[in-house]
Amino acid sequence: MLQVLLAVGMGALALLLFVVWRVRTDGAWALWWHDNYLERLRDFTSGQSRPMRILQFVQSAAAPGDANSAICAVDSYCANVEWAMNVGDKKGQILDAVVLAVRPRWVLELGTYCGYSTMRIARLLPPGARLVTLEMNQHYAQVAKQILGHAGLDTQVDLLVGASSALIPQLKKKFEMETFDLIFIDHWKASYLPDARLLEECGLLAPGTVLLADNVTCPGAPDYLQYVRNSPRYRSEYFPCQLEYLQVEDGMEKSVFLG
Ligand SMILES: C[S@@+](CC[C@H](N)C(=O)[O-])C[C@H]1O[C@@H](n2cnc3c(N)ncnc32)[C@H](O)[C@@H]1O
Repeated sequence: MLQVLLAVGMGALALLLFVVWRVRTDGAWALWWHDNYLERLRDFTSGQSRPMRILQFVQSAAAPGDANSAICAVDSYCANVEWAMNVGDKKGQILDAVVLAVRPRWVLELGTYCGYSTMRIARLLPPGARLVTLEMNQHYAQVAKQILGHAGLDTQVDLLVGASSALIPQLKKKFEMETFDLIFIDHWKASYLPDARLLEECGLLAPGTVLLADNVTCPGAPDYLQYVRNSPRYRSEYFPCQLEYLQVEDGMEKSVFLG
């Protein structure tokens, strides 16, 4: 009997160690563990959504009107308390560098979530620049509005609620604008390629427009990469980095539209 219990205990420990190892080293396991299992468990125990927990932490930890303080609060919460799908501090530095290099007048973001990358972009924009961000989840958009308000950035950002495929064709008319200088692509990965093609069809790209796509390695957007790396209409460059708040390989792709 003791031998059976010992064998079962050893088996359970081995299984646990295997899961921990896979979660720490494999992107698909890490995303499943943090984005499904742990998030649902916390939602159940707290009676709140993860975006609401992030909002409450920002409101309690970040100085009102201070975007850098709000960004640090989100990073601190997501690195130490619970993971979330923001671009994060490390890839955020690549995003910052691209924003500063492009000095865009018009920026489009696909996928707002809680507004973390929106804050990173908005705080670096030159005077008079506009950032339009699209989010299809009404609850995430409500949270993002409150976080942007707390950070003092809500007047610089136009947050539109809806699916990118429906909103992109309306942008020119809605904002009386011609083309975007910078587009941060960070929504569901299967939409990267169709939306890049839609942006082309809608005439929203000009020679020199920069497309920066997150998570092209984890979870990955292979059809998008295949397109921008092989189309003569783009000059594309890969930036290796790690998945937000984890030691898992990821990357960003910067693609300049050539016309
Ligand atoms: C990875 S999160 C964005 C993270 C955010 N850019 C950041 O770094 O803080 C992806 C978001 O895109 C939204 N989304 C996914 N597909 C979309 C679509 N087709 N149109 C608009 N939003 C979409 C999801 O609801 C989710 O909030």
